[in-house]
Amino acid sequence: MKAWLSRLKADLDFIPASPEELARFELSHALPELDCKLVPDPSLGEGYRLERTGDQAFTITGGPSGLLYGAYAFIQRSLAGESLPDFLESSPRYALRMINCWDNADGSVERGYSGSSLFFEGGRLSYDPFRMRELGRLMASVGLNVLCINNVNVHFPAQLLLEDALPDAAALADIFRPFGVRLMFSVDFSQPMRHGIPTADPLDNAVRTWWKETAARVYSAIPDLAGFLVKADSEGRPGPFTYGRNHAEGANMLADAVRPFGGTVVWRCFVYNCRQDWRDTKTDRPKAAWEHYAYLDGQFADNVILQVKHGPFDFQVREPVSPLLLGMKKTNLAMELQLAQEYTGHQVDIYTMIPMWREVFDELPSDRIMSLAAVSNLGRDDNYTGHPLAAVNFYTYGLLAWDPDTESLPAVSRWVRLTYAFSDTEEGKLTELLLSSRRTYEKYTAPLGIGWMVTPHDHYGPNPSGYEYDLWGTYHKANRDAVGIDRTSSGTGYLLQYPESYQRKYENPETCPDLYLLFYHRLPYAFRMKDGRTLIQRIYDDHFEGYEEAKAMCTVLRTLPFPEPDRQVILSRMDLQLGNAREWCDIINTFFHRLSGAEDENGRKIYD
Ligand code: GCU
Repeated sequence: MKAWLSRLKADLDFIPASPEELARFELSHALPELDCKLVPDPSLGEGYRLERTGDQAFTITGGPSGLLYGAYAFIQRSLAGESLPDFLESSPRYALRMINCWDNADGSVERGYSGSSLFFEGGRLSYDPFRMRELGRLMASVGLNVLCINNVNVHFPAQLLLEDALPDAAALADIFRPFGVRLMFSVDFSQPMRHGIPTADPLDNAVRTWWKETAARVYSAIPDLAGFLVKADSEGRPGPFTYGRNHAEGANMLADAVRPFGGTVVWRCFVYNCRQDWRDTKTDRPKAAWEHYAYLDGQFADNVILQVKHGPFDFQVREPVSPLLLGMKKTNLAMELQLAQEYTGHQVDIYTMIPMWREVFDELPSDRIMSLAAVSNLGRDDNYTGHPLAAVNFYTYGLLAWDPDTESLPAVSRWVRLTYAFSDTEEGKLTELLLSSRRTYEKYTAPLGIGWMVTPHDHYGPNPSGYEYDLWGTYHKANRDAVGIDRTSSGTGYLLQYPESYQRKYENPETCPDLYLLFYHRLPYAFRMKDGRTLIQRIYDDHFEGYEEAKAMCTVLRTLPFPEPDRQVILSRMDLQLGNAREWCDIINTFFHRLSGAEDENGRKIYD
């Protein structure tokens, strides 16, 4: 991130008065040789139009933030050495392009791998204004426009809604405004109960009034607050279920409170039974979101957006697209991605997400979602993302949120060119390494869509039975004969939540795409894959290959001329990744070898 910011040439040691002033500042420093005219046209909203008017002269036309987005798009193309078009018109596909920070008031970050919170310390807001402006630049440069600064698990005393926190929060909103970024707050559904009201029942008049008055107070301090983000009835968080109410009743009550101010309620659908008995074979966790929400389609207020994780579980290396995203046709939907590498290597292992996101977008009809959210991977580390190469996920997320048709290769290759001064060959090597990193990680970790073989709670490193007898509903049930859960119509019926064409693609293990095989099917180790290998052989092969690929990544990284301090951080984390890959490879292979008794056909070392 730092490297990209440095390409902009000038530090921002003032708060710009407007996006237009900022656009002018950025263009004049990053591209002083060009003559760029800015022409405001509010009718273009967040969009912009770029026109060449002479050899070295251009005009950018746009609404207030459109001018800024146009300027950054122009600067990036130019600095990345791409040819500048004579004419380009662009506008964002999604209205809210959000970053969700899981930052706590005490300064810690839930699932944070890049240092402590950028926003909080010691129970209250506390930030470096300079870094806030850098963050504003980072967001605006990729078109992101909403920043939720606090954790969806709102732990007391994170009370952004309270009177004494509002002036500080308003000052923060002032910093982000010229970057086209609006703040959002996560709220606790039971908040009224901290203020003398005996209930949080969404249909109770005192509760409704409390939220209305609170919204009025908050919006008088921050008139352009994007809205409230809510995690309710999930993993111990309070919610409408306590009062026998459904989630439309809960969300609509909050929506009424913020409606007069143009606010939005973003309501998360990550709701499931997290106290499941592993003996219970009827409950299948991926079915939960659909069961809680699909029947409410059409009942949510127009300023409610349901935020659905991209897969039905929880950010595993491979999951199918959530059936809720396909099925709720009369409800505003946002899809939630996770930049923080909770299950994907903790920003120690290299894991470039855009190829995974592309697969999800390619399954979604283009008009199914109207907004996009991503759990942040940022923190107080000097480079913002802990691992310098994890910044590619922040950058490419922004590009996708603007244009979901963005392809992986040009997006990653542009990020590399903006970040490092490499030769074409070096740029090509790093781009290729980044693009294949997710597949490599997938190979050495959990096989063929099975998920959840990770160390419990911390979620780094292998522990194939770690969650098997736990409460979280994440079982693979490997025994000496077979592995996986049958989620077809003859099993838990999860697959029936999808449209028919989708069901047909996955219901038969003979034709189901390999990489989803163990997500949908329970299969014997001797099952023949499409290429003739047995399932157990495929598991062994993938793990050995994944580890070999990690070694090859290490070799490539050593040849690349990263500047310091990136080089030292990248190489030392690569050593850790190699250790992790070896551990995964050996433990998973040994686990299945002990169960199945099957030998590796290629005679490689599997420990007893
Ligand atoms: C995961 C994660 C939690 C988080 C939750 C959520 O379960 O481990 O830390 O709170 O997702 O998305 O709400």
